[in-house]
Amino acid sequence: MTGLFAGIGGLELGLHEHGWETELLCEIDTGAQAVLRARFPDTPLTSDVTKLRSLPADTELVAAGFPCQDLSQAGATAGITGARSGLVDEVFRLVTRRKGPRWLLLENVPFMLQLGRGAAMRHVTTALEDLGYRWAYRVVDARSFGLPQRRLRVLMLASRTEDPREVLFADDAGPLEMGASTEHPCGFYWTEGLRGLGWAVDAVPTLKGGSSLGIASPPAVRTLAGELVTPGITDAERLQGFDPDWTLPAVGIPGVRAGHRWKLVGNAVSVRMSTWVGHRLDNRLPYDGASDTPLQPGDAWPMAAWSGPDRVAHKAAVSTWPLHAPYEHLNGFLDDTKLLSARATAGFLSRARQAKLRFEPGFLDIVAAHLDRMGGDPKRLTLAAAAKASPLDPADSMELVEGGTVDLQAEDLRGQDPRELDPAGSIDRHTGTESQEPAAGVGRQRQGRTASAVGRSKGRAA
Ligand SMILES: C[S@@+](CC[C@H](N)C(=O)[O-])C[C@H]1O[C@@H](n2cnc3c(N)ncnc32)[C@H](O)[C@@H]1O
Repeated sequence: MTGLFAGIGGLELGLHEHGWETELLCEIDTGAQAVLRARFPDTPLTSDVTKLRSLPADTELVAAGFPCQDLSQAGATAGITGARSGLVDEVFRLVTRRKGPRWLLLENVPFMLQLGRGAAMRHVTTALEDLGYRWAYRVVDARSFGLPQRRLRVLMLASRTEDPREVLFADDAGPLEMGASTEHPCGFYWTEGLRGLGWAVDAVPTLKGGSSLGIASPPAVRTLAGELVTPGITDAERLQGFDPDWTLPAVGIPGVRAGHRWKLVGNAVSVRMSTWVGHRLDNRLPYDGASDTPLQPGDAWPMAAWSGPDRVAHKAAVSTWPLHAPYEHLNGFLDDTKLLSARATAGFLSRARQAKLRFEPGFLDIVAAHLDRMGGDPKRLTLAAAAKASPLDPADSMELVEGGTVDLQAEDLRGQDPRELDPAGSIDRHTGTESQEPAAGVGRQRQGRTASAVGRSKGRAA
């Protein structure tokens, strides 16, 4: 097989477990390259896919978790000019030349289905059909494979000779009841709070490769003891199905910050997803799609679909849970946690108190109690101290802090371990594009920026 956009090898690792050997890896990020060199030492590695002239001659499978921002472009141009629209087209270029891989395995975020009002998906499926491939795709949840991370990803499989439905639709277990939040730790995005929380019982919400600021930061977990903690990078690696310290080789590469590991892990494919695909490639089951309904023009792309030789897309009636693999509880993945800092907690609490969200009963009290234990809101203390030494009415400064969305992510992040931050600002494919869980967004908190700035400048002026 050949691994394009290989990242840290999530697709390749899972497929290897079922006998696939990678003959060529292609990845442009130097940190990810360091990981690939260390973890796949015998596999040739090339950098830029646009410079790759051809696939190795005996490639049977091409795996490609291509960057999503290219799809937006594809969505904008698909069907209009027919021009090349992004990196995904490099996959099609290489496959055309080679005229051979039996399988194409693509992976992406579910937002792919909505991009350009479905135009991006039309671009991909049309290109596949033009190349003579049958395709099937399915949105799957990492929890289905036993990992306590609610992570939805689109897996798309295409073949010229086989029926990909026999792989992707072979299993369907249906959603699992997750139990009561009072009996399990619960994950949430502490960088959110206003419009979404990503609340997940006995799981973390999707680990992301970055935020609107380009900063990758871990979600938080409310433990059963009522503490707020953030998982460490080795916890995150395990939550993605990798061995702890899988991405350690990225550290020490010139220009790569330690926080970059979060981005690599957040962008990766959960290994168990690809392990499942590897298993099913070898153990296909007939799929009877007779009762599946054809998609009508204007229909949204569903959570699973396929098209056959007649090029008519059909909706498949399968869930995002292929399996109920033995569930590994989140508690077992919290080995390297840190307490959520006072600044981060105060920022979250401030946003949450203004939010129109419904939090579970007692949750905000737990957050407030955590903040107290962490020493209270550092900004409030600063303002109070400033007010004491000045003619500014303390009540005024208090109001400024409590009334406004005081902080932005970057502000909150200052209290976090700098090793976990990646302020490189590099573009990330997952930025703000999760369909299920909105990304933390600075843009949404412009009001807060103003309130905060006023509060601070008043305090300072006094
Ligand atoms: C979503 S990630 C893939 C993650 C991967 N499947 C894994 O499990 O880690 C997309 C990858 O494409 C890489 N990439 C972007 N542009 C590229 C290019 N021109 N050539 C090769 N790789 C590229 C990015 O560096 C990133 O690692």
